[in-house]
Amino acid sequence: MSHNELMDKTYRFQRYIYDATRKYFLLGRDRLIDSLEPKPGARILEVGVGTGRNLLCLAKKYPECTYYGLDASSLMLETAKTLFTKKGLTPPKLKEALAEKVDYRELFDVPEGFDYIIFSYAISMIPAWEESLARGVEALSPHGTLSVVDFGDQAGHPHIFRTFLWKWLGFFHVHKRFSLLGSLEGLAIKARAHFEYESVVRNYAWVAHVQLGQEKTS
Ligand SMILES: C[S@@+](CC[C@H](N)C(=O)[O-])C[C@H]1O[C@@H](n2cnc3c(N)ncnc32)[C@H](O)[C@@H]1O
Repeated sequence: MSHNELMDKTYRFQRYIYDATRKYFLLGRDRLIDSLEPKPGARILEVGVGTGRNLLCLAKKYPECTYYGLDASSLMLETAKTLFTKKGLTPPKLKEALAEKVDYRELFDVPEGFDYIIFSYAISMIPAWEESLARGVEALSPHGTLSVVDFGDQAGHPHIFRTFLWKWLGFFHVHKRFSLLGSLEGLAIKARAHFEYESVVRNYAWVAHVQLGQEKTS
């Protein structure tokens, strides 16, 4: 089974209850959204856009930006389109693609690059996740920001909680990415960019940013 087929299979029915259920355990998404302050006209791409919930939050707040979303699942993209049209908003430009395989600028015909690229709980599902992060940094505009929110290492939680969490997440093809912060910091150093991160609920999740044109690693 291809990865696209696997993602369609995973979300065929889940997508109808996705937004109602995920708000309880995909923590930190709103923190990431609130940390962005796009200027009018900014180009914002979400990789692994899912139901479009994050872009919808941004589009309501910043209607004068242009939105783009890519996902491996055509069914999730269908749901994202419906979500926007139901709210009377123009849907983002949506493309079915594998994050680790495509050039984001070419895919959306945006040679100038994106001002913001978001990976929200997608890195833990993308097989070649480091490759997709590198592609993300390459696709930023000169002062662009790449932002990631995903599961952390839960270092501040009991062992039993961690064991149960990862067993359960395994059913959804979610994998540990405990080297995420190190990888992002490495990309930031290479791109002479600023790197910062914060822990959400004792490392349940991490929110991290790589900002080009602002070298200073913390
Ligand atoms: C857990 S959902 C997160 C959706 C959304 N970003 C959110 O925060 O609600 C992960 C999404 O990543 C997509 N995905 C998984 N692997 C992918 C890949 N290799 N390339 C692109 N999208 C992928 C899945 O289809 C799914 O829609």
